[in-house]
Amino acid sequence: MHQATIFGAVLASALCSRAAQTPFFAVDSLPATKNDSWNLNVKPSVNATGHLVFDTVSSLLQHWPNTRYRNGHNIVPGIVPVGTLLYHGRGDSNLPTIPEWTATDPEHSYIFCRGSSEAGCWHLTLVTSRPLRVLYFDGSSAAKMKDGPMDTQDIVGWGEVLPDRYFEERTRAVDLCNWGKPLGIDGYVRMEMDFEIVLCDLTAGVEVVSMANLASQGRGGPGGPGPGGPGGPGRPRPSDLPASNDSLFATGPFEIAAGGFDVIHSGSWHNRYPGDRRIKLDLTQLISFYDTALVPSLVARRLNLERWDHRLLGIIPVDVAAVMARLTQVHASPLQPGSGVDWDTLFKVIVDRYEDRFEMVQYVLNSTSDDALATAKNAMALFRVMLQPYILHATVPVGSDNAWAAPVFKFCATSHTEYIRRSLTLFNKLTLSEELLLNAVEETNREICRVVVRAWAQGVAAGLDDALPVDSPTHPDGKALVSTWKADIEQLMAWLDWSVWIKCRPECSFEEMCYLPTWPFMGGGGRGGPGRRPERPDSPRSSRTHVESSSADDDDYLRPQPRCVRRLEPYTQL
Ligand SMILES: *[C@@H]1O[C@H](CO)[C@@H](O)[C@H](O)[C@H]1NC(C)=O
Ligand SMILES: *[C@@H]1O[C@H](CO)[C@@H](O)[C@H](O)[C@H]1NC(C)=O
Ligand SMILES: *[C@@H]1O[C@H](CO)[C@@H](O)[C@H](O)[C@H]1NC(C)=O
Ligand SMILES: *[C@@H]1O[C@H](CO)[C@@H](O)[C@H](O)[C@H]1NC(C)=O
Repeated sequence: MHQATIFGAVLASALCSRAAQTPFFAVDSLPATKNDSWNLNVKPSVNATGHLVFDTVSSLLQHWPNTRYRNGHNIVPGIVPVGTLLYHGRGDSNLPTIPEWTATDPEHSYIFCRGSSEAGCWHLTLVTSRPLRVLYFDGSSAAKMKDGPMDTQDIVGWGEVLPDRYFEERTRAVDLCNWGKPLGIDGYVRMEMDFEIVLCDLTAGVEVVSMANLASQGRGGPGGPGPGGPGGPGRPRPSDLPASNDSLFATGPFEIAAGGFDVIHSGSWHNRYPGDRRIKLDLTQLISFYDTALVPSLVARRLNLERWDHRLLGIIPVDVAAVMARLTQVHASPLQPGSGVDWDTLFKVIVDRYEDRFEMVQYVLNSTSDDALATAKNAMALFRVMLQPYILHATVPVGSDNAWAAPVFKFCATSHTEYIRRSLTLFNKLTLSEELLLNAVEETNREICRVVVRAWAQGVAAGLDDALPVDSPTHPDGKALVSTWKADIEQLMAWLDWSVWIKCRPECSFEEMCYLPTWPFMGGGGRGGPGRRPERPDSPRSSRTHVESSSADDDDYLRPQPRCVRRLEPYTQL
């Protein structure tokens, strides 16, 4: 109903302005955002984070993007619905009385089902008997690395980032659970090779389905690799790790043999949207460290850093206090219902609209054809179809600059969110988190629309849009247009940095899967082959700069790149 009203208003004003021969119709009567400047040449600020909020929120609970960017920036409350199974592998049949790690997939927990081949091993299956209240840390938040994946947990559990304590998993779990107990938090959702939940109390809100004595794969008991454990190349060994009293990880997942690939495989089931659906997140209470109003001290820390290197180190205590106050408030006060806007779906709608179209534009502009004008016309057709819903009948190219296209820019940039901002009943219901999400959609959409409308307007001025002829087209320089557009689209895609574009090219065969280096498999991978020195998860990475890390191994570690690995006999390749 309200949509019809907007379009009615736009249409009416378009008709009026056409009648009045005014090309600059309706800019002001069109929907506005917080940002009311519609200059097509003004780029977003270097400090803007709307696109980072957009991408990280679009990536929640998905394995692929959170393997690529390991350093999480979001803390999101959620629930695990009743009837959900959780798994825990161990060497004895005792039901733990302390916080323990549970997996959402048994392929993950089976790695920790350790016992001799005579006695077998123990695999506990739990089921939630009521909705569990959980807190999700995004990124590879269970990757025991000192370079950033643990930062958000450090803040919550310890009040500051303590990189040297990156392997203190037992203390971390206990401290997080003690902190969250008065707030009714049952567990913490994290991700490594697959998703896991640190459950604070294995007798609260969960019941035992089975404590099964399973056949052990002969990997031996805790304390050392079993006799048959193939210590394949490219995999860190326990001796590479600092001494730790952590019961689960002291022997570590490092001697994983047969289970190693199985868990990479089960993790990959959650690679893409919608991710691991067993956790239902409440985006209306999300906290992001990319929120520059909540955490201003990190703006300067991120300056000139590539996204891989964004982390929370350097956050000032007053910002930590603000985050913790928000987090506590979320759980302590009665739940705010929020606006009812389905943010998750709205974000997905935006990604869907542009994901494969930009890949196609990039492909077209990458043509090696000598006929640059034909290439430009092909690209122009793609620009037009993206903008079709926003090119009003009254749009007329006039003047020597592209200001005539501003209404298209504004309409394109605001149509998804204008109502949320305009309706005071709705806007007043937004939580602080929802305002952050709204800004993220607006900033992201704005830049997409700015770049596409600008390119299209250049094409129109060159006389390349048959549907919108110009009186005296400049003699079109196809080559110049193609090279400008190519650079602009490339820059836009790099700015958006959506992980949906990170793929194995060419695609993997059926016997393979596309894989991103995942902790703890940080070896040189298929490129190195046997004998290559494994990367150590405790290397002092944070002190290195990008320039200094020149070897292929380092690049793979710091900036994971996709590659095909064999699903059959894959162990030597991870
Ligand atoms: C509006 O957006 C432009 C371009 O993205 C930016 O330069 C400007 O600072 C923004 N203004 C406000 C008030 O946010
Ligand atoms: C392991 O535990 C022992 C005894 O509780 C303690 O003395 C030692 O410092 C601990 N080691 C580590 C690395 O935490
Ligand atoms: C970006 O942030 C830095 C650090 O706070 C500040 O010095 C700089 O002026 C900001 N730049 C812009 C364009 O806002
Ligand atoms: C562009 O073409 C080059 C050479 O043909 C190719 O290597 C590259 O992958 C292509 N890029 C895209 C985005 O299609």
